[in-house]
Amino acid sequence: MFGKTGTDGMTIEEIRRITAEVLTEAEAAVDTDALEAVRIKYLGRKGLLPRIMDGLKTLAPAARPEAGKLANELKNGLTARLDARKQALQQVAPTPGSGLDWSLPGRWRGLGSRHPVSLVIARAADIFRSLGFTVADGPDVETEYYNFDALNTPADHPARDVQDTFYFATGQLLRTQTSPVQIRVMERQKPPVRIIAPGRCYRRDTTDATHSANFHQIEGLYVDRNVSMADLKGDLTHFARQMMGPGVRVRFRPHFFPFTEPSVEYDFSCHVCGGKGCRVCKDSGWIEISGAGMVNPKVFRAVGYDPDEVTGYAFGMGVERIAMILYGIPDIRMLYDNDARFLAQF
Ligand code: DAH
Repeated sequence: MFGKTGTDGMTIEEIRRITAEVLTEAEAAVDTDALEAVRIKYLGRKGLLPRIMDGLKTLAPAARPEAGKLANELKNGLTARLDARKQALQQVAPTPGSGLDWSLPGRWRGLGSRHPVSLVIARAADIFRSLGFTVADGPDVETEYYNFDALNTPADHPARDVQDTFYFATGQLLRTQTSPVQIRVMERQKPPVRIIAPGRCYRRDTTDATHSANFHQIEGLYVDRNVSMADLKGDLTHFARQMMGPGVRVRFRPHFFPFTEPSVEYDFSCHVCGGKGCRVCKDSGWIEISGAGMVNPKVFRAVGYDPDEVTGYAFGMGVERIAMILYGIPDIRMLYDNDARFLAQF
């Protein structure tokens, strides 16, 4: 027999108890690092098992074979259990303490798509880039100077009323149009200028099928020697055809804006009914897309340009309007409801 005391002063019962303990510890190891610590503690060079093996030498020769066999069984059994546990841990590796099982398949949340407003802005930018325009930017929070004064808007103009404009207590405001970007660009850049400026605008409008207090415009400004109304009409007609297809017709109607003289409004033939008249175009066959005109000399003087040297055209078009007729969207509010089923169609 092994004798009452085994190796290293241990009884066989103790060795068995320790074996059971090791197995419990191995099962409890939450990751491979913890398991490796268990292995080192028992099977490592300074671990418990080598000490048991060492102790065999001190036994009576007759007791050695059985004791050696037991020690070997212990070693092989432990190694096998540790290996099995390690494999299991490598297959399913939860992060310690997180309760997460990284081996579970992920949940598919679907791919996003570009918003129709962004799509129209991107297409318009491509079209105007091909005409030599670059894209400029300006702040949403503006001063009265940039949004109104420098644009030759009289102090008593109705657009300045609190009914139309969101004012801050500081006297600043949320821009009601992208036109202030014209002023900012001309202040920092000498002519020639050829920019578009897409961005958000804000007005105290009551929301309905065609109005929103928050909407987008694309401003355009072209200043150089000898820019004429013919450039304006040619470029905007080209833009319409690129945007809507070759079948679109455009028309220019006389209008008034303080920052342009002469001024026009420019319409696309209705894309939904082809100009015959429908609900979207309110039976007129036309959709109002943009204000435009020849830059007023007073605007040039406000930024230090000489109106005897340069002329220019400007426009400000409604992005939502274009998106609605291009994609056949009957209500502007659909663009802001954030219904993923609607938005995924574009
Ligand atoms: N800012 C005008 C509006 O919001 C649109 C506009 C008209 C812009 C004529 C222009 C322009 O640049 O020349 O109604």
